[in-house]
Amino acid sequence: MMIDRRQFLSHGLAATAALSALSPRAFASATDILRAAPVRAQIAPSPYPETEIWAYGGTLPGTEIRLRQGAPLRRVFDNGLPEPSTIHWHGIRLHNAMDGVAGLTQEAVAPGAQFTYEFTPPDAGTYWYHAHTRSFEQVARGLYGPLIIEEPEPPQVDGEEVLVLDDLLLDPETAQFDPDFEAPHDRSHAGRLGNLIVTNGQFALRREVQQHARLRLRLINAANARVFTLGLSGLEGWVMALDGMPLATPLPATEPLALGPGQRADLFVDVLAAEGETADLVQFTREGGLSQVAFAVTGRASLARRDAPAALPPNPAMEVTGLAGARRLAMPIEGGAMGGLRAAQYQGREQGMGDLVAANQFWALGGIVGLSDAPLAEIARGETVQLDLDNRTAFPHAMHLHGMHFREMLADGSFGPMRDTILMQRGERRSVAFMADNPGKWLFHCHMLGHAASGMTSWIEVS
Ligand code: C2O
Ligand code: CU
Repeated sequence: MMIDRRQFLSHGLAATAALSALSPRAFASATDILRAAPVRAQIAPSPYPETEIWAYGGTLPGTEIRLRQGAPLRRVFDNGLPEPSTIHWHGIRLHNAMDGVAGLTQEAVAPGAQFTYEFTPPDAGTYWYHAHTRSFEQVARGLYGPLIIEEPEPPQVDGEEVLVLDDLLLDPETAQFDPDFEAPHDRSHAGRLGNLIVTNGQFALRREVQQHARLRLRLINAANARVFTLGLSGLEGWVMALDGMPLATPLPATEPLALGPGQRADLFVDVLAAEGETADLVQFTREGGLSQVAFAVTGRASLARRDAPAALPPNPAMEVTGLAGARRLAMPIEGGAMGGLRAAQYQGREQGMGDLVAANQFWALGGIVGLSDAPLAEIARGETVQLDLDNRTAFPHAMHLHGMHFREMLADGSFGPMRDTILMQRGERRSVAFMADNPGKWLFHCHMLGHAASGMTSWIEVS
């Protein structure tokens, strides 16, 4: 049978149409799967052997998820781990049922089972996702990844680096994880601090840049307990956003920036170092500055330096407009080594420190040790809430609220930047306020994950 050209074309077009109707679906379902499983990876520098980590998509950090603001996110979590797990989308204002808190917003997903997470992140910015079941162990083993929501118009930069900071506690002989994830000493002190500091799963990360280039650095602290204090060398920078949310005015990054566990910062940095030199993202420790990321300057992007950057576009965040009639919640943070806590509410009754220690519990938040059956407060949707945080312990804590961002109330009566995690130094008293516009059961906990598992976890209900 002969077909003329016109028929052939229309036949071909129909076939193409049929294919395009089918293929995006097939394509989407293949890339939609986010599998968590054990895998071996070279983390400690060779000649150390590979480390058995737990990872999303087989890498540390896990597969980057990147979307345009307003686009829907859908991932089928496929649990290839030897234990139940869930995924939490840290900093995303999402529907409560997608928040990933095992035992509060969903049942943990059994080994071999799947769960579909589906929501549309409303805000642009730098976020991350991580396990939220026994997170003190699962996150420590590597179950985290970056979640990047791009602005509708890309900002004027020459390049971008997503830099996920972590510290792993490895056996110095075998390079395998120290298996004591629940060590009482770590829990009652500063938390599980690692002995190998990594960026994007690598020790001493190096990158190549050009002089006068402007880079966006998306910093994410995924460590269990370590506070990274960061500075710039050979770079001029501005803090553009904190915890995903743009600052109204970029802040020149002249002072060291403390990034607690769970916190993020977006910096724009201009490379000042000349060709042949190295610029650094520096980590300050008690012993001095170390290079966290080394940028080798290999050429010149332009002859002249750029002007200071304009602010990133604001997100459609719900604002705290005033504090008149705000609901005030006292939030003392108590306990731990040298904390002097004698007794606290645990599992529905007052218990002495001896019983708490026997249960590997050390901390009280809002007077209660651990997740209680009833919420710490029931909040009406639309209410403004003021949390009066009072760190009566001898350690810093990175306090994180799920589902909503807050602003700190500063001494001069103004509000600080919008954040989802506040780093409370020892002895500090600070207040934050937020608009309770997202219904559901929301955790408030320390992001030092051993602290969260040993008492410093609470929740509120918004309805
Ligand atoms: Cu990023 Cu409840 O945690
Ligand atoms: Cu803590």
